[in-house]
Amino acid sequence: MKTVYLETFGCQMNVHDSEKVLGTLMAEGYTPVDSPEDADLVLYNTCSIRDKAEQKVFQRLQNFRREGANGRRRFGVLGCVAQQEGERIFDRAPHVSLVCGSASYHKLGELLVQLEAGDRRVKGLDLDTEETFETPFARRDNPHRAYLTIIEGCDKSCAYCVVPFTRGPERSRTVESVLAEAGRLAQSGYTEIQLLGQNVNSYRDPAGACDFAGLLGRVAAIPGLRRVRFTTSHPRDFVPEIVDALEANPVLCNHVHLPVQSGSDRVLARMQRQYTRAEYLRRIERLKRSPRRISVTTDIIVGFPGETEEDFARTLGLLEEVEYDSLFSFQYSRRPNTSALALDGQVPEEEKARRLAILNEKQRAIQIRRNGEMIGSIQQAMIEGFNQRTGQWIGRTSQNRVLNFVQSGQGPPPAPGHYVDVRVTRAGPNSLAGEQAAPGAGSEAVDAD
Ligand code: 5AD
Ligand code: SF4
Repeated sequence: MKTVYLETFGCQMNVHDSEKVLGTLMAEGYTPVDSPEDADLVLYNTCSIRDKAEQKVFQRLQNFRREGANGRRRFGVLGCVAQQEGERIFDRAPHVSLVCGSASYHKLGELLVQLEAGDRRVKGLDLDTEETFETPFARRDNPHRAYLTIIEGCDKSCAYCVVPFTRGPERSRTVESVLAEAGRLAQSGYTEIQLLGQNVNSYRDPAGACDFAGLLGRVAAIPGLRRVRFTTSHPRDFVPEIVDALEANPVLCNHVHLPVQSGSDRVLARMQRQYTRAEYLRRIERLKRSPRRISVTTDIIVGFPGETEEDFARTLGLLEEVEYDSLFSFQYSRRPNTSALALDGQVPEEEKARRLAILNEKQRAIQIRRNGEMIGSIQQAMIEGFNQRTGQWIGRTSQNRVLNFVQSGQGPPPAPGHYVDVRVTRAGPNSLAGEQAAPGAGSEAVDAD
């Protein structure tokens, strides 16, 4: 029996890539195991978005350094660090015998054959590909919510970002293959689908049959699906037709993740983001004007080269103006290959940390306020599990808020994957809590969600 252990770092794209990689390996006769010690093949699917993420894989590999290149166990590095560091990984960690970036996963079968034949430097590093990684074999981690890749790679050139170098040029899947996979998922019982891509808004069927807004409408029409989400969006390509699609299709969740990165035009220009604060705010205004209560979340980088106190103050001002429902915040990290490496005005690490703490404190107050506004409303929650310690069910709303709740005797008994109406009674900065309500008790649950 051949066994494989796979650990994943990074974004949802990576999580889903790992599901596809593991499914492919299982089809090749591998059995997944829970610890690297029990595995014949140890794989790390890596992230290089920030230096810290990149260091993690080398720490992991370090633990097995003594096994050497000729030990029984094989080691492979997949994903963004593999693509970025390439063959240098063989020198840095001589017990690694496979490096493969995501743009080469469609060749994984061939690469495994080479590996099993004894080749100790197997490479899948071509970036210049038109292929997408489609496989009938994804081994999905969650029985109710499924990821579905619609577009791979990225053609933008944000000054700080490794992704165009690690995931290659943009490639959209055909609308037929997206709809076929979504249909299969619905038929096998999935009610929630999350459409994935580095920039889903750039989706365009290769034959020109539809754009992203059109695709949303077609996926939402598939019988059996109750929730369709998508991530991640780019403000420049987030055209109003996407919001029109959200309004026309209640199955599309009322949540949009729209990374802004900075509230200062000067910094946005240096980042090569291709929009101004005012243009970004017009996108937000369209979302806020919707009769659907669409939650908006974002990503922010603090301490980008040249960011002044004044630029940072503009970002803080933007948080107040938009009132994000949640955000991911990062200290700028210098990355290989990126154009920001050449910029002057590096911000010291302590200063970045100071700005990050101020930003997070401000956002925390906003979230307490925003979540507090939900108290008294009835929200539909998709049940994700049960917390033994608190005795509460764990749910998630269409707006992507965590909503923990207790069973109240009203409505059907809760079970993972089911949808229930919940009356919100408490709110914290990061989650809501409540009790199960009678089905259909709230207007929010019936129309907006
Ligand atoms: N440093 C810090 N944060 C980064 N991100 C991308 N590249 C960097 C970098 N070099 C952040 C952006 C992006 C999110 C996925 O990670 O905010 O939206
Ligand atoms: Fe990390 Fe970006 Fe690669 Fe995702 S695409 S794994 S976030 S570097």
